[in-house]
Amino acid sequence: MKVAVLHGQKHKGSTYHITKLLVDKLDCAKEDVKEFCANDISDCIGCFQCIIKGEENCPHRSQTEEIIKAIEEADIIIFDSPNYVMNMSGQLKTFFDHMAYRWISHRPHPSMRRKIGVAISTTAGAGAGRVTKLISSQMFWWSVGKTYKIPMAVAAMNWGTVKDKIKIKAEKKTTKVANAINKKYRYVKPGIKARFMFNLMKNMQKSNDYNPVDSNYWKEQGWI
Ligand SMILES: Cc1cc2nc3c(=O)[nH]c(=O)nc-3n(C[C@H](O)[C@H](O)[C@H](O)COP(=O)(O)O)c2cc1C
Repeated sequence: MKVAVLHGQKHKGSTYHITKLLVDKLDCAKEDVKEFCANDISDCIGCFQCIIKGEENCPHRSQTEEIIKAIEEADIIIFDSPNYVMNMSGQLKTFFDHMAYRWISHRPHPSMRRKIGVAISTTAGAGAGRVTKLISSQMFWWSVGKTYKIPMAVAAMNWGTVKDKIKIKAEKKTTKVANAINKKYRYVKPGIKARFMFNLMKNMQKSNDYNPVDSNYWKEQGWI
């Protein structure tokens, strides 16, 4: 099992530690886990080069290429972020902006349909559920086959001050999700909503006369 983790923060707080609780329970060797953090990726400048000319033309490709390669090679992809003002961290969102070309409406990677994605977020009070939904929704649009969410209200500003009761809850939640992943990871199939969306996009690509990079990609994949 290959695992790619993208942290939406550089520091090792509650979010990092809950992700670690999960990763440590997955059936994989340490060398099969590739970890990155989103902090040093430049903002998307909206040049559309990735979408209309090809992703290698992104001016920030050298900052994202290694992460994207690891994600595309992994069986399990994990994204985490603290709740910052009821949203994911800006730096994680910046990474997702750079993945617009991988949306199902453009050039989804064929391996995504067989992957399991996990969205993890912590918050002091409310909002972790909202953040995991936002992260999970990005993965849906990449056509990731199955996603899990781990939202945790930790009532703390750092992992050191999280109460034992909450740490036990985090341990239980991550065990439950890890067990499900370990059991399912070879047998992922996209759900009905994902298949519906794929067929919708397939029909759109058949009559796509505005972006040959996208329509040629769909032809090369043998999808249209
Ligand atoms: C800039 C910023 C914004 C935050 N916004 C919220 C918020 O809207 N609601 C909330 O309950 N906690 C909020 N928090 C608290 C964090 O979500 C919470 O402490 C989280 O567990 C921190 O994770 P970390 O230890 O991985 O950094 C915010 C913290 C920061 C630094």
